[in-house]
Amino acid sequence: MKKINQVYKNFYTDTEYHTLSEYIEKFARHSFNYTKEYELGRYYGVIKDVWNTAVCIGNFPEDLLLKTQKFAEEHFGVKDLEIFDIIIIKYCNDFGFIPKLDPHKDGGTLKKYTIDYQYKANVDWGISVENDIFVLSNNEALTFIGTEQKHGRPDRIFSDNEYVENIFFQFIEKRKQNEQ
Ligand SMILES: [Fe+2]
Repeated sequence: MKKINQVYKNFYTDTEYHTLSEYIEKFARHSFNYTKEYELGRYYGVIKDVWNTAVCIGNFPEDLLLKTQKFAEEHFGVKDLEIFDIIIIKYCNDFGFIPKLDPHKDGGTLKKYTIDYQYKANVDWGISVENDIFVLSNNEALTFIGTEQKHGRPDRIFSDNEYVENIFFQFIEKRKQNEQ
């Protein structure tokens, strides 16, 4: 049985990473739905959600999502997962506020299987999951169950130009037709 919490290196291939970065830099960042959350010290965007609501940035490369979903099914040992949401967050002090992420469990009634992927950072900022701390490098992903495992980030002072940017994929178990 695999450990729930693991760090996976080289998560995407070079080609996939290139596709991802084109998507983020040329599309997502210019979206009206990529927002500044001043007091939280971060930029925030919902790339996709299960309802396809109007707040979504949209257009996430399908092949990358499919690969990430297959990966999550394999890692968590759950046969049919579907994406609940994909969120992009860049932590930095651009707005004069210090990024902060106190330990919490994610909300909602459905169990969320989380892939926390570090897209780009120029500093190390550990992720706490229960009693462990995981430090990711770029293109590495950490697995946890966001609704059941308390997770957060230790307090850290950010200097100008320091940043950490992650993409969160939250999967849920696929609902049967008659439950929808
Ligand atoms: Fe969370």
